[in-house]
Amino acid sequence: MLRIDYSDRHVFVAGGTSGINLAVAKAFAGAGARVSVISRDEGKVQRAVDMLRAVGGKAQGLAVDVRDSAGLASAASALAGLQGPFDVVYSGAAGNFLCAADSLSPNGFRTVVDIDLNGSFNVMHAVFPHVRKPGASLIHVTAPQSSVPMRFQVHAAAAKAGVDQMTRVLALEWGAFGIRVNAISPGPIENTEGFSRLMAPDEAARDFALSQVPLRRFGRTEDIAELALFLGSEHASYISGAIIPCDGGGSLESVKPALEAAGHRSLHR
Ligand code: COA
Ligand code: NAP
Repeated sequence: MLRIDYSDRHVFVAGGTSGINLAVAKAFAGAGARVSVISRDEGKVQRAVDMLRAVGGKAQGLAVDVRDSAGLASAASALAGLQGPFDVVYSGAAGNFLCAADSLSPNGFRTVVDIDLNGSFNVMHAVFPHVRKPGASLIHVTAPQSSVPMRFQVHAAAAKAGVDQMTRVLALEWGAFGIRVNAISPGPIENTEGFSRLMAPDEAARDFALSQVPLRRFGRTEDIAELALFLGSEHASYISGAIIPCDGGGSLESVKPALEAAGHRSLHR
């Protein structure tokens, strides 16, 4: 893992209780940071806090839904009160599933947009009063379908496209405060919920997804954690407004959706 000293820094991780985001939280804790995590499930939050303390970090957590803007504002204020201003904010809470547009209910569309797009704004809006100015690094998590159209992803593609543009606008506005705003766009990261739900629902889809990665391997959660450690640090001090793929080159190839090639011509619930 990249060796950057995060002691005396406070890192807020939204959705930091499983998968990629938990690996990111652990990497910051392992580098000496105080880490705060939030997600909906109280049990997951507690387990994540225990894990972060076990890797040596000072950790706190609260259960809150990113769709609840008032709850998030209280949580951000409470966590900053406990552990100090935020030096890094990594915002990765998301929900997704495969569904053909004609089968997707308006509430299904709204739910994913509420979590992924509105939730991302709610996180940044809630933390803004508590981030270190100048110096903070804010990191959104987007996905390849923000720019590459993918079947069965109308909800997440629309939401993540919004996250990309929000990243750029916030970088424009908040640059004046000495705050950097960037986004990480992970490719297929194995052993995660998103991977098994979206990219590898069966062996054929998994094999095709692998064939679409120029480096011919799936990503690991550590790949994203390394990029987050870099982006959060002074080593990235002139990088702002960037949407950075971490995908083995996959976004260069993914115009052909894996599921289509694997024979999933229609997906109905
Ligand atoms: N296909 C189609 N529609 C679906 C669906 C699926 N697989 N799963 C949920 N929906 C629809 C529901 O039917 C509902 O719409 P309706 O009221 O018209 O029936 C709507 O989405 C909301 O579902 P609900 O279960 O109430 O949402 P929730 O807020 O409890 O959970 C989800 C949010 C649906 C995104 C859930 O999958 C989740 O919590 N995901 C988090 C983990 C995850 O997705 N990880 C991968 C990240 S990339
Ligand atoms: P994951 O394990 O399901 O992580 C999602 C996290 O967000 C969990 O901690 C979850 O905890 C939390 N969460 C979900 N809905 C929430 C809500 N409404 N409010 C607060 N917290 C919420 O998923 P993952 O696959 O690791 O994905 C992590 C991020 O990477 C996502 O932003 C995803 O879009 C992106 N991504 C993943 C891949 C991949 O290959 N996995 C590829 C591209 C992009 P609770 O259940 O406790 O709320």
